[in-house]
Amino acid sequence: MNVLIIGVGYVGLVTAVCLAEKGHSVTCMDTNIDKIKMLKTGKSPIFERDLENLIQKNKQRLKYITEFVEQSDNYDIIFIAVGTPEKYDGNANLKQLWNVVHNLPRLIDYNCVIVIKSTVPIGTNEKIEQYLKTHIKSEIKLSVVSNPEFLSQGTAIKDTLQASRIVIGSNNDYATQIMLDLYHDFDVPKLITDRQSAEMIKYASNDFLALKISYINEIANLCEIIGANIDDVSHGMALDERIGNKFLRAGIGYGGSCFPKDTKALHWMSNLYDKEIKTVKAAIDVNEQQKLRLIKKARKYIDDFSDLKVAVLGLTFKPETDDLRDSPAIVNIDILLEEGANVFVYDPVGMENFKKLYKKNVKFCKSVNEALKDADVCFIFTEWKQFQELTYENFRLMKKAIIIDGRNCFDIKKMCKLPIIYDSIGRITINNL
Ligand code: UGA
Repeated sequence: MNVLIIGVGYVGLVTAVCLAEKGHSVTCMDTNIDKIKMLKTGKSPIFERDLENLIQKNKQRLKYITEFVEQSDNYDIIFIAVGTPEKYDGNANLKQLWNVVHNLPRLIDYNCVIVIKSTVPIGTNEKIEQYLKTHIKSEIKLSVVSNPEFLSQGTAIKDTLQASRIVIGSNNDYATQIMLDLYHDFDVPKLITDRQSAEMIKYASNDFLALKISYINEIANLCEIIGANIDDVSHGMALDERIGNKFLRAGIGYGGSCFPKDTKALHWMSNLYDKEIKTVKAAIDVNEQQKLRLIKKARKYIDDFSDLKVAVLGLTFKPETDDLRDSPAIVNIDILLEEGANVFVYDPVGMENFKKLYKKNVKFCKSVNEALKDADVCFIFTEWKQFQELTYENFRLMKKAIIIDGRNCFDIKKMCKLPIIYDSIGRITINNL
């Protein structure tokens, strides 16, 4: 099939590459000229396992454009995968989406299916179809389909090629069939629903996972007080198949481009209908507090951060990505800088993005050891494998080995034997100094 994807951020680009891998001809359109230039040379603008390999492998089936006019093809399917970030009030910002939609009528004079990949408030697909139907020639057959995305950064290609499910929210058989043909070679469960349900599946799924994280974080905080161990508690819960073993890792809270905005958007929507979803509101509140847990913990050992050397290990919101959006590290670095700390940061892949996006007065280190050398305290914000492999040989470089770990990187039993202070989430505190 001949497919156009408008907006080649994380979701758009991965979708494009995976559809090309399955034999479709895919044109990627993005107004970001630098990104398109990079893609034309076979390079990926984002750090994502296997993505660049697939871009290169499928280069015959992938085209890149910055404007429609460069292409005169008729597309069977047009995906819209632009960002829908949060507004100040928590609602989803659909400016980019509507910009694209408003331009479509002057560009489409053939039958096609418009697919909304972007995460959008319930009812948006319907509104888009109504708009398009009143602005295109009546003889053109056009349908809008909701096809939400469930990929995670770091495992995006696998999550797409071997998806847990493909949800097709459609209101007519013709569009549904086109979507089934598109995904014919994806041997994964396919669920056909109405569009509102498809839109809701996306929010309900993300918010449920966020809820799970906030729940386990609250349990972890209580474990610290009563002397229980969150690792054992999570494990004990996960053995119950009804609970499952995913998203029960306690830590400093969720970040990224999805959970923070999608929890706020669903909460905003529920208020709009005067049906506040209280559980989601609780998940948001708990997460905001959880992000500050490490600083609170550090204050047990340090009165004043000013002029201290603070080592920060991990900037990205999770490992295996260079994405810093809503990363808990950012807010914590802000606090440390405000209090006059000398912040020395290290992250295996997030440093370049951090330099570009956040003009903060921090020292960028070339290695973990450079960050740790003579540091007064060390904060761990991301569970990169490289950090999990650190040993006392690394921490002994610190002036005082005070390690505040927001991702439970180390085995508590091993840490017990070392001359350190080790404070993690939901486990006993070790104070051997
Ligand atoms: C999330 C969802 O997992 C995807 O299914 C969804 O498609 C995607 O959002 C999206 O809407 O586009 P992602 O944001 O890439 O994917 O990352 P996750 O792996 O879900 O992690 C989100 C945050 O939760 C991270 O900060 C991570 O550290 C945290 N987390 C995750 C925990 O604190 N504990 C856990 O047990 C799991």
